[in-house]
Amino acid sequence: MVQTAREKLVQSLAGEPAHVVEEVCARWDRWSPDLVDGLSTVYPARAEEVAAQIAGLVGAAVRTRRPALRRRDRARQLHPDWFQCPDQVGYVAYTDRFAGTLAGVAEKVGYLRELGVTYLHLMPLLATRTDVDPAAVGGDDGGYAVGDYRRVRPHLGTNQDLAALADSLHEADVSLTVDLVLNHVSREHPWAVGARAGDERLARFFHVFADRTTPAAYERTLPEVFPDFAPGSFTHDREVRGGQGGWVWTTFNAFQWDLNWSNPDVLTEMLDVVLHLANLGVDCLRLDAVAFLWKRMGTDCQNQPEVHAIVQALRAAAHVAAPSLVFKAEAIVPPDQLTAYLGTGRHAGRVSDLAYHNSFMVQLWSALASERADLARQALTGRPPKPTTTAWATYARCHDDIGWAVDDADAAAVGLQGWAHRSFLSAFYSGRHPGSFARGLVFQHNAATGDSRISGSTASLAGLEAAREAGDAHGVDLALGRIFLLHAAVYGFGGIPLLYSGDELALLNDPQWAADPAHAGDNRWVHRPRMDWDAALQRDDPDTVVGRVFSGLRHLAGVRASLPSLHAAVETEAVDVGTNAVLALARRHPSGPLVQLYNVTPYWQRVPAGRVRAAAGLRRFWEHLSAFAPVTEPGGAGDELALPPYAAWWLGERDAGRAPGARG
Ligand code: GLC
Repeated sequence: MVQTAREKLVQSLAGEPAHVVEEVCARWDRWSPDLVDGLSTVYPARAEEVAAQIAGLVGAAVRTRRPALRRRDRARQLHPDWFQCPDQVGYVAYTDRFAGTLAGVAEKVGYLRELGVTYLHLMPLLATRTDVDPAAVGGDDGGYAVGDYRRVRPHLGTNQDLAALADSLHEADVSLTVDLVLNHVSREHPWAVGARAGDERLARFFHVFADRTTPAAYERTLPEVFPDFAPGSFTHDREVRGGQGGWVWTTFNAFQWDLNWSNPDVLTEMLDVVLHLANLGVDCLRLDAVAFLWKRMGTDCQNQPEVHAIVQALRAAAHVAAPSLVFKAEAIVPPDQLTAYLGTGRHAGRVSDLAYHNSFMVQLWSALASERADLARQALTGRPPKPTTTAWATYARCHDDIGWAVDDADAAAVGLQGWAHRSFLSAFYSGRHPGSFARGLVFQHNAATGDSRISGSTASLAGLEAAREAGDAHGVDLALGRIFLLHAAVYGFGGIPLLYSGDELALLNDPQWAADPAHAGDNRWVHRPRMDWDAALQRDDPDTVVGRVFSGLRHLAGVRASLPSLHAAVETEAVDVGTNAVLALARRHPSGPLVQLYNVTPYWQRVPAGRVRAAAGLRRFWEHLSAFAPVTEPGGAGDELALPPYAAWWLGERDAGRAPGARG
């Protein structure tokens, strides 16, 4: 069976020089077992036929891959762990909010490099429903309601602009990530338009039901993603089923139609999109809402095993055509489901290269609110190890809300009640809890379950907005301490840290977020501010808040890049160092041990130094972020480390830094 597909590949490479055919075939031989394994899991009866179809798509993509990208493929195959290296720092921005257009982004590369950025995620930039149908009402979910995967949003530029930006980013050693929205298309996308117009092939791209019977059966176990502005998971559409009307699966907004991935045509079409984006020069695809791809009655229709088989097949095929492309899973799922997106069991190391560490993000905010580290330690312990070839994407904030993904069993293990703690976090970060420093907004309160999530910028959630308003200079210092601690943990975890645009300037919640009527119903826009380039002018002034935050982040990037022990191949372990006020993370890397201490309280804390040494086999202490040797009396009564409020310390051996010019 593999032979047939391979022959198809060779055939589709007709006209390419022999060495190219040989190289591509070698890649096929390397990756086709993963491809066939994935396809056989989801489409057992049609795996052979689909593999052959894919071979044709792959061959066509190879033929149109431009020389600069082929060179990049070769370089990245020699450096496959590039995204795991400590010199990587990510930045996430909306093109228009950051720099107007794609051409504008190219002019900001110098600014990004100041922050040590090597990886740029530009939020959805493909034509949305409103671009393809100006009459579409209700917005486009921040670009996640795609109307055309083949072209860039007109107000941002053209496909050529995107390719040119990729080239200039690559010259500056910056990789480009864009979103691949693969769970749904917008109702205005040609597939949905065709389905509505009666095209039977396209109708099979979606989940359409004649009446509410089956949707109701699914809904018995389906959680609602947007209970507030898009309740339920199905939407009635009058045009489907040849005008008879029916219920369409819409997990997110009513205008986002879930794709039916049990239809292999969906996979081949989406793979073609993957290859198209790779050939524009994209280095990494963020697999949006990937957890939802496979539906199974009686389940929550998330994290089904088939999801991993599908991603494995897509990635294997992409590696044949564009070996430098990597995948990042956006699966905001319970902690015990996360690692599967990097690969566990038979999929270990064969699915996404990167995945968001949603649990770590939640735990950092939880620790700051509760001034205790035990829940974070519990949540980080006892999960399956991730494959050594993969990396977590770590972050403090992103463009989405924060959902309190706290596992009930983890909470119980540290004497908390899961639901009560989640309610406390929502109350705390919306500023309702007495003594809260935060200024967030409640997002998607679910009256049925009592759950709610939180919107807000890092700075506002960390207390800067409230402290400034109160003219409280000490409060400002504490807020800056929290902002630095959050980012030190994100930069020190040993994955790729993702900085959300504006956080480097401590931008507060955007008071104008609802001014655009298309945004008014969705308060996630409160933390998606337009870049404040005037504020950025203060970034080198140490007497300003902007200068303090910006220089702190620049410093973190520099120290991170100098520490080989932060390579993502090695696990981070949460360890108990004898005080619940300090989150301690240990890394045992052959280049030397590293123990990070994060004082999650606004008070001085003492930590038994012996426990810290034992955590990773450290002999002496050198604090890499401040470049000093904390004084203790080994074995004596004063053998304690004294940590100031919100201290973030990276303790290792003094000579653990990288030799100048070394890589990897
Ligand atoms: C992802 C995006 C979010 C969007 C959703 C639907 O979770 O991050 O912004 O609303 O997918 O596409």
